[in-house]
Amino acid sequence: MAEVVSNLVPDFCNYSDTADTYAELRKCLFADVLNEHCAGKDVIEVGAGTGNNVLAIARHAKSVRALEYNKAMLAHCERRCQEEGFDNVLCTHGCAQQELPKLASDPATHADVAIIVQVLHHLTVVNAKEPSQNTDRAHVLHRIREIFKALFDMIRPGGEVLINTVGHEQARDCFWFKNLLPVVLARYIERFPKVEELQDLLKDVGFVDVVVTPHTRTLYDIPLKEQFSIFKSKPMKWAKTDSFFEDASEEEILELCEKMTSWTAEEEQAYILQHTAKQQEMGVTSFISGRKPLA
Ligand SMILES: C[S@@+](CC[C@H](N)C(=O)[O-])C[C@H]1O[C@@H](n2cnc3c(N)ncnc32)[C@H](O)[C@@H]1O
Repeated sequence: MAEVVSNLVPDFCNYSDTADTYAELRKCLFADVLNEHCAGKDVIEVGAGTGNNVLAIARHAKSVRALEYNKAMLAHCERRCQEEGFDNVLCTHGCAQQELPKLASDPATHADVAIIVQVLHHLTVVNAKEPSQNTDRAHVLHRIREIFKALFDMIRPGGEVLINTVGHEQARDCFWFKNLLPVVLARYIERFPKVEELQDLLKDVGFVDVVVTPHTRTLYDIPLKEQFSIFKSKPMKWAKTDSFFEDASEEEILELCEKMTSWTAEEEQAYILQHTAKQQEMGVTSFISGRKPLA
């Protein structure tokens, strides 16, 4: 069960369990893109996790607020920022749905830029008291709209929101484990917001110049062949690097491991070539940016 903040359970992934593996194997590979938007600015990262992006931008930003509701993830972020000696980072423990309206209500806590990297698909399960409503798509989108509205209110005029997410087609074709587990993928994308839906919601709350840019770098700084080898030797460890696996049973994960272990070297190489070509063609993730008008 994910950690409970008040009566809100904003996650379907038990990050308390996965924080250490996540910190070890996931990296920020878009420092350049983030810094283009964040350099010299007061920034908030919503769902900062272990601090991958915070570390990438803190040296260039004026200030960074790392908002994160999972204490185990936030502890990594805090420790890493201390090790780097950053005194312009403020780690805030809390859930976006509760914290953003509070930050929006006080001009002293407003920001120029909000970044949200690989977080919005976590908003499936919110109200522990009304589980029947939790996975309803309309509710998920309503919740995201509320977050966007609070962000619009807390971003200064002329400021920006920058989201990194995965399009449904990118999930299907550009992540090998999602591609090779189509039944799990179908469950996963049922609650995964579409890029077009996020664009519409941003415009709906008032953001303008809403632009989508596909990005070809992956979420792992590890060559595919090595990713396969980690998965084949420790499938359940690899499963802690992506919340996608929360929708898979252990049996489904082990079956995939067995299938990949039976591939010949040629089959594996052919898959890697085909997969890499798809990643280059479609981009692995998508950035969506929007601007708050000056007046
Ligand atoms: C996939 S991780 C991404 C972490 C970080 N943004 C990165 O790119 O490395 C998603 C993070 O969002 C956090 N999260 C999910 N829902 C949240 C919410 N409603 N409020 C605050 N944090 C949330 C999770 O705890 C998790 O640490």
